[in-house]
Amino acid sequence: MSVVKVERDGSIAVVLLDRPDQLNALSDELMDELVSTLKELERDQAVRAIVLGGSERAFAAGADIGELAQSSAIDLYYQRRIERWDAIRGLWTPLVAAVSGYCLGGGCELAMSCDLIVASESAEFGQPETGLGIIPGAGGTQRLTRAVGKALAMDMILSGRRLTAREALAAGLVARVVAKEAWLDEAKRVARAISEKGPVATRLAKESVDRAFDSTLSTGLEAERRALYLAFASEDAEEGLTAFTEKRKPEFKGR
Ligand code: CAA
Repeated sequence: MSVVKVERDGSIAVVLLDRPDQLNALSDELMDELVSTLKELERDQAVRAIVLGGSERAFAAGADIGELAQSSAIDLYYQRRIERWDAIRGLWTPLVAAVSGYCLGGGCELAMSCDLIVASESAEFGQPETGLGIIPGAGGTQRLTRAVGKALAMDMILSGRRLTAREALAAGLVARVVAKEAWLDEAKRVARAISEKGPVATRLAKESVDRAFDSTLSTGLEAERRALYLAFASEDAEEGLTAFTEKRKPEFKGR
């Protein structure tokens, strides 16, 4: 039985984790299905943005603790379990996390692997791994620290403090907070807005923002400049600039 639901809605796709009885705990099976689903959507050029969500109760409550408890360190190492998550960061298609309810451990790391997070006011973000005697291992110590700074990251990772959606917004972890019932609709709205922009420019812009996380300012600025020249050379840029001067909506082709 499938543990990931996929819906197409025009130029966007909505992917929902579907293990409700385990609060969407990220089992091996779920992660395999998620990665292959996302890769398949990536190959479809008509899909210009993807929403990744869970349920109202939980985005995901972390890695599957039952599975972890039965694995040896060498199992995890040989299965390259976490390395497989890198495929998500490698996607070109913009990924909007739609977070409602629990977003803990690997769930928080998965949300942070997306390009931006839209959160319900019910969302709770946390990295409770040290309470299990382990540590965040899919980017939590690194991405969370870059997103919210050392003080708050240490508090969450060492004491198990959970952030409310409003606190996460103030700290820079999430982009928008919306009413409880609007988490998925708002994420779709954001994805739709992204999907209407020039696809070449969107990819180049996403790459450029990502570069800000792992390079110096001067290297990032240099890469940004080259990305701008490349965007300028696209048919999309010609269309976008001309459409503005002709006072009409652009028709981007992703070329
Ligand atoms: N793995 C497996 N099953 C989980 C789970 C997880 N991470 N989180 C919840 N579940 C299961 C529970 O075992 C329970 O199953 P049963 O009904 O069969 O008992 C079901 O989901 C519902 O959970 P609760 O009854 O506990 O629901 P609650 O509302 O009382 O509490 C919760 C919710 C606070 C999220 C609590 O379930 C919890 O603390 N979960 C674990 C959170 C956690 O520690 N996550 C980190 C995992 S390690 C990790 O992610 C490593 C990494 O960095 C890659």
